[in-house]
Order: sequence, then structure tokens, then C-alpha cells
Amino acid sequence: MKEKHTPASCRGGGGGGVRCVVALLLAALVLSGDVAGATSFNYKDALTKSILFLEAQRSGKLPPDNRIKWRGDSGMEDGKLAHVDLTGGYYDAGDNVKYGLPLAFTVTTLAWAALAFKPELQAAGELKHVQEAIRWGTDYILKCAAKKNHMWVQVGDPNLDHQCWVRPENMPTPRTLYQIDGNTPGTEIAAETAAALAASAMVFRNDKNYARRLMNKAKLLYQFAKSHLKTYDGECPFYCSYSGYNDELLWAATWLFMATKRQVYADFITHEAISSSVAEFSWDLKYPGAQILLAPHNMNASGGMQSYKTQADNFVCAVLPDTPFHQVFITPGGMIHLRDGANSQYVTGTAFLFLVYADWLDTARQDVMCGATPIKPARLREFAKQQMDYLLGDNPRGRSYVVGFGSNPPTQPHHRGASTPVLKPGTVVNCGMSFGDWFAPDRPNPNELTGAIMGGPDGADNFIDKRNASACTEPCTYINSLAIGALAALAGRGPNLVASKSHGYDQM
Ligand SMILES: *[C@@H]1O[C@H](CO)[C@@H](O)[C@H](O)[C@H]1NC(C)=O
Ligand SMILES: *[C@@H]1O[C@H](CO)[C@@H](O)[C@H](O)[C@H]1NC(C)=O
Repeated sequence: MKEKHTPASCRGGGGGGVRCVVALLLAALVLSGDVAGATSFNYKDALTKSILFLEAQRSGKLPPDNRIKWRGDSGMEDGKLAHVDLTGGYYDAGDNVKYGLPLAFTVTTLAWAALAFKPELQAAGELKHVQEAIRWGTDYILKCAAKKNHMWVQVGDPNLDHQCWVRPENMPTPRTLYQIDGNTPGTEIAAETAAALAASAMVFRNDKNYARRLMNKAKLLYQFAKSHLKTYDGECPFYCSYSGYNDELLWAATWLFMATKRQVYADFITHEAISSSVAEFSWDLKYPGAQILLAPHNMNASGGMQSYKTQADNFVCAVLPDTPFHQVFITPGGMIHLRDGANSQYVTGTAFLFLVYADWLDTARQDVMCGATPIKPARLREFAKQQMDYLLGDNPRGRSYVVGFGSNPPTQPHHRGASTPVLKPGTVVNCGMSFGDWFAPDRPNPNELTGAIMGGPDGADNFIDKRNASACTEPCTYINSLAIGALAALAGRGPNLVASKSHGYDQM
């Protein structure tokens, strides 16, 4: 593995690169942190807000029922440089670029949440909002993938975007287009997008025409990905695929299998796909997600010797601090910490996977096996709750890392739209002045980026609530998409988090 997975967009943008290094001696004291079970938050409120953040990231023409009052239409000429319509979709993080790989991953994981925690989302009155959030992504993806063996994979020149601190409604920066095709393949993006569309087709199965469109496109993109094996490096250094494309190929085949139950995908999964045991689930690395989805299906990974159940177990064993095989660093305050910058994705992603896996383990009456040590599903749920509780306020600082939620929430998210005042449409912004005017001032953002989960504290539980501390204060769409299922479970189930109703994973 090369240096870091951290996308520069979750680090940089003007005076970025500042780490959370406030040397507060306090942090060394009283960090028991382990009061899980006793702690409780208004999870329903956190859930509602976590979806609102995704609405604040919308690009394109906003609908009349837009709930984010400080947002307006933006990126309305996206695609024009190639005479196509690429309006819509999501800005990734604190910048105004639409990156294909993390955008598709955001949609895949949102769709998974809508399938795995459907009764809970429904009970909270949020299923419709999550479905709308998925569709905001899939409508855009369908535009990007309109032609066969071709896909528009990015809108916006990230280097120039990062030299301008301006809200998307007024951006003067070039909306450069990036594409993959037969000559310039992009296996990761094509496969992740196939996964996103297959998972979304399951969500929209009752909308038959739309689901069929999604499914047909998913199959074509999967074929394209498999027959053109090459990493696209055009999103690097912002989103470099450090893990290669094998995980995306397995992940795409898994979602196509989930949606269709067709043998052709099962064959690929058992005979061809490469699958490894890893300790991370992220926009770059998807093995544990696929392994947990495949664990119920009694299949072995190709090579034959390990079942997907064993590999899913290995993920759990690598994360949990109380197993003989743990690898993942946990801060003194109890939070998973893999690296600075968008670290919260590992926190929310692990919580989500643990809750999904615990449900299946219960149904199948199985434990996780860490060598000879059995781990009960209840332990996975307890750990998942503790990770989410940390972000909501049960941490050494006693503060929330979710904007607009709980105690002492962040006030200076590293985010262009939230930190620039609302300007009249057509206002011409001077990029040179923009950093002095809107990035540098030490004051709360004028617009509340409600529900945004920050990149989060560093490995010593330290956090700087400053716009230029981007590793701490930058949000990303996939941090939130991964949180939504876990928050729904916390909001809708009793204290032991056991499912009372079945899921909605029916195939197409
Ligand atoms: C599948 O893996 C298990 C170990 O997890 C092994 O015992 C079994 O023989 C494997 N099956 C095949 C068909 O290779
Ligand atoms: C970050 O911003 C704060 C004010 O919000 C300022 O005091 C500090 O010097 C800045 N740090 C860097 C490295 O620019």
C-alpha cells in the first residue's frame, strides 16, 4: 500500500494540511469512554439531519421542495463542453467537483442502507428521503453512462476548483469533463457504478421501468469493467485507487448477484473474483462489504479454501479490540482511527457493516469466529453503537462531530457553500480574494451545514474546529451515506439493537 488513502479533497483546499495537533494535556486524562449501553442520543434527529447533509451537496436544478434554504441551482452548464447534459449529482465534500468513484460508492451504500434498514427508515419517516437521495444520484449516473462502453466520470477541474473558495452557485471555475472508454478504461469506476445501479434497482423494484433501466445499465457497466481491466488515474491525486480494481469487481458481481440471483455472477464470485481479508471498508476498499453480503450464501472465495463467511469474520476480528487478531488502531477515547482526513468513514462504515452482519448472524444462529474464540452478534451491535455514539458526543471532548446536532457541534466545516454568504445569482467572484473573504476569517460559517459528519478527531481524540483544519472539519458524502443505516437502527430498535422485522433484500 502506498502512503495514504486520504483524498486530497478531504485535506486540502487553500491552507489545508493542518492536522489536529492541539496538544491538550487534558486528552491524556479520564478517557474511559466505555459507557456504551448507558449512553443515549436523539438518534432520530441525527438520522434526519444526516440525510439533510446530502441534500446540501446536490448539484443541478434543485426541486421546489428543496429543504436547504441557502442552496440554489448550480452547475447548470455541466456537460456543455461536450454538448451533453451532465447536470445533477453530488458535490463530493467541501469542494465543488463531482467525482465519479466516491459518488457511485455513496449511492451504493445509501441503497444498501435502504435495503437493510428499510423498516427502521420507514418507521422514522425517512425512507422517502433516502430514496430521493439515491435517485438524485442514479438520475445523474444514467446521464453519465448514456453511451455504451463510455462514461463521464468527473465534472470540474479539481486543481482550479481548489484555487477558488466559492459556493457552487457562483463558481467561475472550469467544469472540465473527464471520461472513460475502450481506450482509456476505468475498471474501478465502471464496476462501482454497476454496483450502485444494481443496488438501486433493488430499492426501486416497484418502479418497474426505472428499475429495469438501472439494471440494464448495471449489466453493461459490469461487462465494460470486466473486459477492460485498467485503473483510471484521472481522479488522482484526489481520488487514487490504492487498492486496485479487484475489490470493485467482486463488489459489482455481488450486487448483480443480489439483484438477479443469476448463476453467471455466482460463478464469477466463486471461481474468478479475487477476495482478500482486510481491516478496512471505504470508498477505495470494498472487500468486507462484499464478504458480509455473501456470507449467507454459502460460497467460497475463488481459490476455494476460505468461505466468504470466514473472510467476513476476519474483518470483524481485525477491527474488534477484544479479539486475538485485532489490527485496527482505536484511539484512547475509543474511536477507530486509520488515517487523518475523512477518518469518520471508517467509523460509520464499520458501524454499518457490523449491524448488518449481526442481523444475519442472528437469523442463521451463528457467531463470528476469531480463531477458536466465538464473538456473539450482541458484541458487534455494542461496538457499532459505541462508534456512532462517539461521533454524536460520547467522546473525551464531550462534544458532537455532527453539525447542528447535540452538544457543542462544529461551527467551521471546511466547505465552500456553507462558509460563503448567499450571493445574488450571477455575482462575479474573484477567486484570488475568495480565500481572504470567506476561508480565512475565524468565525462560524454563515450557513449551517446541518447533519454533516466531520472528518473527525485525530488518533489522540483531538479536534480543531477551524475551517483550515480540513482533516478534522471536512465532510464527505460517503461518511454520511454509511452513517444513515446505523442511525436508523439506533433510532428504530430497542437498546439491544436486535431487528424485529425482516429486511427488504428481495431480488428484482
Ligand atoms: C470452502 O472452504 C472451507 C473452509 O472455509 C473448506 O472446508 C471447504 O472444503 C471449501 N469448499 C470448497 C468447495 O473448496
Ligand atoms: C488556521 O486558521 C486560524 C484562524 O481560524 C488561524 O489562527 C491559524 O493561524 C490558521 N492556521 C494556518 C496554518 O493557516
